[in-house]
Amino acid sequence: MAKAKTYFFCSNCGYQSSSWLGKCPECGKWNTFSEEVIQAATSSKAKTYSQSNVSKPKLIHEVSTSETKRIPTLCGEFDRVLGGGIVPGSLLLLGGEPGIGKSTLLLQTALSIPNCKILYVSGEESEQQIKMRADRLNGERRTKNGEWRESERDRQGANGFSTDCYVVSETVTQRIMEHVEAIKPDLLIVDSIQTICTETIDSSAGSISQIRECTTEFQRYAKESGVPVLLVGHITKDGNLAGPKVMEHIVDCVLQFEGDRNYGYRLLRSLKNRFGSTAEIGIFEMHGDGLREVANPSEFLLSQRDENLSGCAIAATLEGVRPMFIEVQSLVSTAVYGTPQRNANGFDFRRLSMLLAVLEKRCGFKLGAKDVFLNIAGGIRVSDPAIDLAVACSILSSNVDIPISPRYCFAAEMGLSGEVRSVGRVEHRIAEADRLGFEKIFVSKYNARSLNKKRFGIDIVEVSVIEDAFRALFA
Ligand code: TYD
Ligand code: MG
Repeated sequence: MAKAKTYFFCSNCGYQSSSWLGKCPECGKWNTFSEEVIQAATSSKAKTYSQSNVSKPKLIHEVSTSETKRIPTLCGEFDRVLGGGIVPGSLLLLGGEPGIGKSTLLLQTALSIPNCKILYVSGEESEQQIKMRADRLNGERRTKNGEWRESERDRQGANGFSTDCYVVSETVTQRIMEHVEAIKPDLLIVDSIQTICTETIDSSAGSISQIRECTTEFQRYAKESGVPVLLVGHITKDGNLAGPKVMEHIVDCVLQFEGDRNYGYRLLRSLKNRFGSTAEIGIFEMHGDGLREVANPSEFLLSQRDENLSGCAIAATLEGVRPMFIEVQSLVSTAVYGTPQRNANGFDFRRLSMLLAVLEKRCGFKLGAKDVFLNIAGGIRVSDPAIDLAVACSILSSNVDIPISPRYCFAAEMGLSGEVRSVGRVEHRIAEADRLGFEKIFVSKYNARSLNKKRFGIDIVEVSVIEDAFRALFA
């Protein structure tokens, strides 16, 4: 019997110590250490999964890359975020808040990959529950225009599912590996890593040492067998992936699934990707029968707009490299109580305060006597600074009660002295505005300098300070 050892782990970063510490020397957080009993493995030799486990150094130009063919999922948005499909032998981690749709996304993806044997291991749901979910998702297996794919239908069993997706409810890695050896899947999905434990150590599932050990086991399996593994991970209250940061170091790709649960939109971002860009995002919409891809978010987000409403302005933002046109709405009214109210949905509150201060100084906006409410339509959170000008103009529009034409859009950042600053990839935004049929786009003078305006049919309005925009819109 191997000797059991006790270690203390930081729940924030995974730092290991032999005694309890008040403050983590690694990440500086207080009171994060918890005790875990670790049973050392009985056999010192780790199990290997490949036939030849002797690795040999190769010259870099001799390493062939032609064999590494990505597995395309039929989900375009998922592929886009991954950089064109799942790389064989990679370990992916999908994080997100509970109930956001991680299991739905993976099951739906699993059911739609053609000619691929999949093992879906769930530590959270029983086989019956997975089947019930798959039944709900059934309507999703159609092409974009609602027609069933012929080849798709041939491949499906009587229930309309892919016939080569195996499901099992299991929580111990050793037994998962037995299933893997029996089934020999082309893709392994594990939902979720926090419910899985390994027999080699003796702490409870979800503890840091368990998560680390299990992730390492899956990584070894993925690397040695070439089978990609998708792990689901939970997220903590403060929005980090639950469990230690060490997990993020082990995996090849960290995807985050996010969105507001009250709205149907879900964004899939990649926080780390060893095989692709982290700038891509995927956009989905949750329906009663699963997630649907949103190929054109701008047209979608802007569709519910009436003319002649004051307080609305459209921002040409970029999410990663993808242009997204977002409607900013504000309401400015006289404050009834002494302290005016401020509220921002989907926009940084402190940034709103800053913009209000700039507007007070530059445009005679009487900050002290007004309530200001700001909302980004569609429940989307925007961090692109190019939304600033749209926010400022929507506040001004509500304040003077003059609507901004829905055919105008804005793409510029604002500085503290009211100057309108340039933003990245402005041609991209202008081209998209042009394509969507906008009449005017307001950009910074500094951005416009280097532009070839003849390329675009849209009217490009250059502004250098916020007063320029104010005059152009309301004077
Ligand atoms: P789920 O995938 O279980 O979330 P997670 O695995 O991230 O915890 O998704 C749960 C939510 O999704 C649930 O609140 C119901 C909703 N949902 C739909 O709206 N439509 C569907 O077809 C499915 C399967 C779920
Ligand atoms: Mg789940």
